[in-house]
Amino acid sequence: MSSDRAGRRPFVAGNWKMHLVRREADALCRKLRDGAKALGSVLPEIAVFPSFPLLGTAVEALAASGIGVGGQDLRAEEWGAFTGDVSGRQLVDAGASWVLCGHSERRQLHGETDELVASKAVAAARVGLRPVVCVGESREQRRAGETFAVLDRQLAPLDALPGLLLAYEPVWAIGSGETATPEVAQVAHAHLRRRWGERFGSAALTLRILYGGSVTPENSTGLAAMPDVDGALVGGASLDPGRFLAIISSFAALARPSEELP
Ligand code: PGA
Repeated sequence: MSSDRAGRRPFVAGNWKMHLVRREADALCRKLRDGAKALGSVLPEIAVFPSFPLLGTAVEALAASGIGVGGQDLRAEEWGAFTGDVSGRQLVDAGASWVLCGHSERRQLHGETDELVASKAVAAARVGLRPVVCVGESREQRRAGETFAVLDRQLAPLDALPGLLLAYEPVWAIGSGETATPEVAQVAHAHLRRRWGERFGSAALTLRILYGGSVTPENSTGLAAMPDVDGALVGGASLDPGRFLAIISSFAALARPSEELP
């Protein structure tokens, strides 16, 4: 199963986290738009994930560029008395096509459970957003040999929803500068695909699994060479257009000529 990419188009996503104001977001988007155009026609799918107040700015600056925009979180309910939360409908209305679900910073800082994350993915798919569900083990869990058990637990409540992607983001690699080696990432990705296949059969062949955690232009080519690494979810390096474009280039080689930007 691992050696065949089954037409999975690589996907490079920039998670801006709680960075930038509108002026900076606009400038970054314009550089990305122009830079991606200059890279040529064979590109991976690209999206950025700004915080909510920047969505409109990004959508506007990236209009007709082929680069998508996503939210960093959503609430599972479609509307209601949920102060401070944002619904999938509101994200779609703001021009988002994607949404992150269960980023480890949400799991850790907001106590999001595996079940809650799964319900967010369902809510996203219901309104036509493509959920990028993040999974990954902590340093302690890896040391204790629990990586696969943790991934299995995080996968358990998820369903093979239309458009769903997984992002393997080992918590110890996020923002730490300590990326997983391509081989370590590959082992985890292959495990996730195998498990998905046990539950959903051939859907596992088309499931895209991104790697995230200190991805840089220095390590992205090695990661892109792994048969089950279908792209990257990039935090820090996505705030620098040159570095983000270099990571995009690493995955461009895997994209096929038919997958051109408009
Ligand atoms: P990082 O963040 O690239 O800064 O490690 C990745 C992420 O949290 O999605």
